[in-house]
Amino acid sequence: MARFTLPRDLYHGKGALENLKTLKGKKAIICVGGGSMKRGGFLQRAQAYLEEAGMEVKIFEGIESDPSVETVMKGAEVMQEFGPDWIVAIGGGSPIDAAKAMWIKYEYPECTFEDMCKVFGIPELRKKAHFCAISSTSGTATEVTAFSIITDYSKGIKYPIADFEITPDVAIVDPELAETMPKKLVAHTGMDAITHAIEAYVSTANSAYADSLAIHAIELIQANLVKSYNEDMEARDIMHDAQCLAGMAFSNALLGIVHSMAHKTGAVFADQGAHIIHGAANAMYLPKVIAFNAKDETAKKRYGVIADYMHLGGSNDDEKVQLLIKYLRKMNDDLNIPHCIKNYGADSFPTENGFVPEDIYKERRHDIAANAILDACTGSNPRQPSQEEMEKLLDCCYYDLDVDF
Ligand SMILES: NC(=O)c1ccc[n+]([C@@H]2O[C@H](COP(=O)([O-])OP(=O)(O)OC[C@H]3O[C@@H](n4cnc5c(N)ncnc54)[C@H](O)[C@@H]3O)[C@@H](O)[C@H]2O)c1
Ligand SMILES: [Zn+2]
Repeated sequence: MARFTLPRDLYHGKGALENLKTLKGKKAIICVGGGSMKRGGFLQRAQAYLEEAGMEVKIFEGIESDPSVETVMKGAEVMQEFGPDWIVAIGGGSPIDAAKAMWIKYEYPECTFEDMCKVFGIPELRKKAHFCAISSTSGTATEVTAFSIITDYSKGIKYPIADFEITPDVAIVDPELAETMPKKLVAHTGMDAITHAIEAYVSTANSAYADSLAIHAIELIQANLVKSYNEDMEARDIMHDAQCLAGMAFSNALLGIVHSMAHKTGAVFADQGAHIIHGAANAMYLPKVIAFNAKDETAKKRYGVIADYMHLGGSNDDEKVQLLIKYLRKMNDDLNIPHCIKNYGADSFPTENGFVPEDIYKERRHDIAANAILDACTGSNPRQPSQEEMEKLLDCCYYDLDVDF
């Protein structure tokens, strides 16, 4: 028995932002990031549409990338004072995720961050407000997912909050918002999206409902991501839908250890200047994890199906897995993403001498592995790694070694 949950309404296509006019309520708070939505005029338009709907509007801006627990608490306080019945989050994964966590705290002021992190342990929301998410990047799909990723910088760890309670009520997927993305963001968020689709498809929680979404997302991303990176706007518009389909799949079928490792390496080297951007981390680790998971027969077959849908050739599943790995590595090359942490340099570009020195990596490897095993995404991975295997896998992700165990 399983559950499959999506937003009640999803508006998509160019101009979909205008559907904010249809929301019914008295007060809306708009949660937004650092300025890209204002520069593009989208924030002003969102505010105008909500006012046209008869709502008093307050703006909470400045939500940083990879939002912190502190930002969540600050936003929730503003919500307490203002008392919105709609929370409208607009921007990339960061402001939308932060707003989801603020929503929990707004509805349950006594709820601590630790309480929020209990998987599928969020109390019933919507007593005070409903939630509308409008994505401006083409990757996290947080506009349709049951997840929010918040960073505890005191520990250097990203924590996923997971519960269908935080699946938004309304999602707006308007490709116009994604057209202003810089190339690097297109690359990272796009590789995040393909990782979502592939991890969801091989997850132990896969289902016919999620499978169909994941496979179509993979086909669309294969056909459009590199083109979108090279400024083909038609391809970029298609990517906005593709990432959302991937999100619908993984919100219900869950993820795997690519994400566990990305969550636990994202902020842990921040003191070295290396904030490993989520999508870049996924892009580097995905080929390694596919090789590791393919030792599980069921997963191997499923990777074979993915390779078939991608028309990669191969006469048996072992060959298909190898071709899939090769294809994904080529995508990293086309998108200027390195293959391993050692080569992760400024602006996430590949370089001989990356941010993270070998001795620092080795010193932290044990704890990163232990934390990755405990990550909420590990449970649905098709193969459960031991501490030793996770450390070896991290080595492969640090040095770009082949996975043969
Ligand atoms: N909730 C989920 O299900 C889920 C899934 C995957 C990742 N995440 C999390 O989401 C976060 C990453 O989100 P993201 O990749 O969307 O990036 P982001 O929200 O952190 O934004 C990155 C940068 O891009 C800018 N930006 C956003 N949209 C733009 C646009 N259209 N044009 C120009 N600039 C724009 C932002 O201002 C910011 O500076 C991470 O914290 C990650 O862990 C969440
Ligand atoms: Zn992701």
